[in-house]
Amino acid sequence: MCGIVAYLGNKQALPLILSGLRKLEYRGYDSAGVALMFDNEIVVRKTAGKVSDLEALLGSNGYDKDANIGFGHTRWATHGEPNDTNAHPVFDDNNEIVVIHNGIIENYKVLKTRLEREGYQFRTDTDTECLVHLIRSHYKNVMDFETAVRLALAEVDGTYGMCVLSKFEPDKIIAARRGSPLVLGVGEDEYIIASDATAIIPHTRQVLYLLDGEMVIVTRNKFEIKTIHDEKIERELEVITFDLEEIEKGGYEHFMLKEINEQPDSITNTMRGRIIKDNGLVKLGGLINVTEKLKYAPRIIISACGTAWHAGLVGEYMIEQMCKIPVEVEYASEFRYRNPVLYPNDIMFVISQSGETADTLAALKEAKSRGADVYGIVNVVGSTIARETHAGVYTHAGPEIGVASTKAFTSQLTGLALISLMIAQYRNSLPHDEIKKITDELLRIPDKIKQILALNDQILEIARIFKFCQHMLYLGRGYNFPVALEGALKLKEISYIHAEGYPAAEMKHGPIALIDQNMPVIFIAPKDSTYEKIISNIREVKARKGVVITITDFDSDGPSEEYSDYIIKIPHTLEMLSPILTTIPLQMFAYHLAVLRGCNVDQPRNLAKSVTVE
Ligand code: M6R
Repeated sequence: MCGIVAYLGNKQALPLILSGLRKLEYRGYDSAGVALMFDNEIVVRKTAGKVSDLEALLGSNGYDKDANIGFGHTRWATHGEPNDTNAHPVFDDNNEIVVIHNGIIENYKVLKTRLEREGYQFRTDTDTECLVHLIRSHYKNVMDFETAVRLALAEVDGTYGMCVLSKFEPDKIIAARRGSPLVLGVGEDEYIIASDATAIIPHTRQVLYLLDGEMVIVTRNKFEIKTIHDEKIERELEVITFDLEEIEKGGYEHFMLKEINEQPDSITNTMRGRIIKDNGLVKLGGLINVTEKLKYAPRIIISACGTAWHAGLVGEYMIEQMCKIPVEVEYASEFRYRNPVLYPNDIMFVISQSGETADTLAALKEAKSRGADVYGIVNVVGSTIARETHAGVYTHAGPEIGVASTKAFTSQLTGLALISLMIAQYRNSLPHDEIKKITDELLRIPDKIKQILALNDQILEIARIFKFCQHMLYLGRGYNFPVALEGALKLKEISYIHAEGYPAAEMKHGPIALIDQNMPVIFIAPKDSTYEKIISNIREVKARKGVVITITDFDSDGPSEEYSDYIIKIPHTLEMLSPILTTIPLQMFAYHLAVLRGCNVDQPRNLAKSVTVE
């Protein structure tokens, strides 16, 4: 939820930390700060606001001159409002130890009471502050920085990705992880620790992902990985393969726009090497070892959050239709706490772009603890969820930086289509020629997306008309009901317009009361098995003076044209693949509306890209 960058080497630390923080700002952007080690004195500068506000605060005060050890933090507030005081780094009483932290210390109240009794004064409202006082309190007894950190972490409940500096051992950074990601980059005579690799690859491609319960102790020319119980860990460095250009805007005004436009490529990458050319069958290397389990699974549970959960809903339709296996889709945040019943041989798929979402990870662990096999559909290679699952499929959509998920979603849908087809092959639940028909069409999807992207000007014009609207309803049926949910989520998260997604037929059971000339309704109505029904729903809205925007396909002229005020025509595809196409104009519409309203589409208020707190 927060972004962390730490540096120890021979270069000036500050510019490096700031550029890393800018890359990690998608993780949180309500306050930012740095701590730099100057000749045995730690200097902290922090402020409410974004990294640019921090840069303005630092101005040209020469902080960049000498320090080549330090760290920085960009925050998404959990405890304590986002103001200057609660920004990280957080000092101890004497400004001798300083901490940055991503996560939540769950037992902070108990710890705080005890530490206050010991005489420590709390100056912030953060849970993090008890961590720094706790380290200080242990340091007083053991007089060893590393031992003090270890003893403090042993007392902490909750999650952390944290870094700590101490003026007692100024050439050392200690970082530790439980539940919040940390990566160590190993360069030539320099080390960078960050919440994800994007802040590291400008400097080195050699990395080591810390696992839960591990800490890294970085000194000049040396690093050591240990568990927080002081057991040494030997692990090979890994090499990052993605390029810097992939995480830069590449001439687009926003990451979201870039990522929308990347979808022909990201989907091609999701399919690459997975559809066998000669026979059109599907082969997913990451699931090969669990073929038998998938073949005989009595039930599949899909668990995820937000957009990934919407992908899961589409997956439910796909798997049930093609594989004839019952599927349940669960909000990860609910699954964990409702004592779920799992049958022997049940399989869970978790879906996550970041691979770090705390709720999804908790659901995964819950299912594993109840004996289920859990497989991942994950974008970020090497992420926690990818590592924790028994098997899985990477979506290979490339880094997604915009907080609103776009290309990750369509790659998840593509991945789910491939998984459904592969299970159908194992189970013989779909004839071969039917599978080939679907994979042939999948291969045509990237070109069809290009045709939709070419509708940009038309979609922008429609967005202009609705710039000032306050509410919007999204309606779809069958495979496109989850797309209605996704379209509404996209709109509300980046434009702050209130939007609801509904199954179109449910409208008459309540939401129809909202319809009047001030309620624009977006219908997702490609010519599929529910087309005639949805046309009736469009009529019902028009009869009540609602304003109708319809997403439909080239083939479907007639009723949808007649009753729609605005119509966006996209290419036709198979029903089960239609969400991959219908979702694109909704992403473009939300994007344009948000930009027209002056919203920060890449960093919408109150949100963060990777939600690593429960
Ligand atoms: O990284 P994940 O896919 O696990 O993230 C899940 C949700 O937090 C995410 O999809 C969120 O809903 C997006 N902001 C939606 O655009």
